[in-house]
Amino acid sequence: MKVLVTGGCGYIGSHTIVDLLDNGFEVVSVDNLVNSSADSLDGVEAITGTKVQNYQVDLCDLAATKQIFVDHPDIKGVIHFAALKFVGESVEQPLRYFNNNINSLLNVLTCVEENEVDHFIFSSSCSVYGNTDALPVTEETPLQEAESPYGRTKQIGEQIIRDFAQKQHSSSFVSLRYFNPCGAHPTALLGESPLQKASNLIPVITETAIGKRDKMMVFGDDYDTRDGSCIRDYIHVMDLANAHTKALQFLINQKNSSNYTVFNLGIGEGVSVLEAVNAFMKVTGQALNYELGPRRPGDVVAIYANLDKAASALGWTPKYGIEDIMKTAWAWEQKRTVKV
Ligand code: NAD
Ligand code: WQD
Repeated sequence: MKVLVTGGCGYIGSHTIVDLLDNGFEVVSVDNLVNSSADSLDGVEAITGTKVQNYQVDLCDLAATKQIFVDHPDIKGVIHFAALKFVGESVEQPLRYFNNNINSLLNVLTCVEENEVDHFIFSSSCSVYGNTDALPVTEETPLQEAESPYGRTKQIGEQIIRDFAQKQHSSSFVSLRYFNPCGAHPTALLGESPLQKASNLIPVITETAIGKRDKMMVFGDDYDTRDGSCIRDYIHVMDLANAHTKALQFLINQKNSSNYTVFNLGIGEGVSVLEAVNAFMKVTGQALNYELGPRRPGDVVAIYANLDKAASALGWTPKYGIEDIMKTAWAWEQKRTVKV
């Protein structure tokens, strides 16, 4: 079965392509490289032996997007990763975020409609829950006001898909709400290489340890948590990748009455920032120059997933924990630093 992966040169998209190929799917990628390089598909080829075609197309260009489906009329599934994803940048450039993330989604859904594509999977985010007190978060936890324009693009994206699914009975749809994706492929042939400066915790840790940064800051040590630092649900990118394959298989075999389903994807456990820092030092033996600093504006105190729904409906359980995340992220950092 042929699958179009949008954002296929990006971090989660490229790792998902590896898992899809490993499970016998055929893949075409579309990515305008606004936050990635086509090198990631070389990593995919080195791991899988398969060269994946990438269309360097902006999905906001409807005609160019339609042409992909003309070239590949046998596309039966779309996994839509392509989006701008930086929370802080979205506050600075809200219109750019709405324009890119919403128009690209609308264009891809237009192609799904015109070509009667059977299956569609959307990259959503735990950011749709906003600042919630209900822990762990289930798919039924009410969504709060989004904390940023980025988070709002994910809330709106989900709403668009839900409305479209009610009309498009010939297709089935899933939104996957990722918690904190991190880590790299265990071969260290593929990992996260954003064109923007990293701001997420795990790349900040590895960049500090390798010397790209003098030091790092733990944002807040006075929260009401077990060690005073914030708690998150860090999920390994290969577990996340495999959940997409399982979600596609779920859609292919779908037996339930609804053609739109939402799943949380995390490991279901909270890890504090200080626990993450300590896990890194333990598994790598590297010292880390970190300081305890002030809270970062906009941070929620704690959030982690209830993943019962994904476990039972998709038959998916994460295999990797925080120590595996640190090991693979560190191996990738060392490899890519040598390359640079
Ligand atoms: P990424 O930036 O590495 O990948 C996204 C890819 O989409 C990039 O390669 C970029 O070049 C491409 N892209 C963006 N706009 C495009 C457009 N208009 N046309 C064509 N290509 C375009 O990000 P990622 O971490 O792999 O995230 C993938 C998806 O998962 C995104 O939708 C993101 O919002 C979502 N998500 C990410 C995280 C995270 O922390 N990484 C968490 C939750 C949800
Ligand atoms: C994790 C923890 C920081 C950097 C973001 C998006 C969310 C989703 C996932 C896309 C927090 C702390 C971080 C540092 C630190 N993305 N930290 N020092 O904010 O949970 O989620 O990525 O959908 O929408 O908001 O991730 O990795 O930035 O932070 O102490 O230098 O690490 O305060 O507690 P976050 P993060």
